[in-house]
Amino acid sequence: MGAPADGIPASLVETLRHAQSVAVLTGSGISAESGVPTFRNAQTGLWARYDPMDLATPEAFARDPRLVWEWYAWRRGLVEGAAPNSGHEALAELERHVPEFVLITQNVDGLHQRAGSQRVIELHGNIMRSKCSLEAVILEPGEDDTDVPPSCPRCGASLRPDVVWFGEMLPQETLEAAFEAARSCDLFLSIGTSSLVQPAASLPFEALHGRVAVVEVNPDETPLTPHAEYALRGRAGEVLPALVGAVYG
Ligand code: OAD
Repeated sequence: MGAPADGIPASLVETLRHAQSVAVLTGSGISAESGVPTFRNAQTGLWARYDPMDLATPEAFARDPRLVWEWYAWRRGLVEGAAPNSGHEALAELERHVPEFVLITQNVDGLHQRAGSQRVIELHGNIMRSKCSLEAVILEPGEDDTDVPPSCPRCGASLRPDVVWFGEMLPQETLEAAFEAARSCDLFLSIGTSSLVQPAASLPFEALHGRVAVVEVNPDETPLTPHAEYALRGRAGEVLPALVGAVYG
């Protein structure tokens, strides 16, 4: 069947219109149009000389907690200055139409929630939250704590960002909820991710094992592209509003 002018295949419009359960996986690409750098693009400005792989690790934090905390403070500033874009907003609208909708994100910027998404699984945590580096309790620094990094008000250990670092395990219950969503959906959307990092990259294949159609939204090819029933080659901020608009007007 031909595609409507906006490049959305008519068969995909019909599939989404009748979907009862949709699972979505997003990566940093959906936040690119909000000005938040993707992971594998060069870091910008002050931090250009640092490689995230060298900073977002438990070893880096143990070696130089101040440097790692300040890098995250810089990224928090980027995120606070960013706004959700039309791609985030389209997913929030889609959730309002689909009976069962789960948004699984690898992003730590909280922009999906700021766009109005309700059922969000944060696979890699959230940069705007801090936790005790010893007890992992989520808490914020004391008002008058000027240490860098601040100390846990309960036990005095350093606080750290509540994000998953390279080499760390993802919270088990979070992961199970994400795989359950991928197994039980009748349409899976993979948006703005290079599909390189496990275990997130396995989620669309979990849907494929259940003969569920996978839709990829990405300006570039990824390892998932050959397996996707629909590879919508474009930016999330353009493709997602076109997709949701084609289905719900
Ligand atoms: P990457 O930087 O690896 O990939 C971003 C993807 O988004 C690429 O495939 C781009 O082509 C695509 N992209 C760029 N602009 C886009 C746009 N406007 N619309 C749609 N897609 C766009 O980021 P992730 O795949 O999210 O893990 O990386 C996954 C994980 O790798 C991150 O969560 C992080 C990193 O290691 C942890 O921090 C644990």
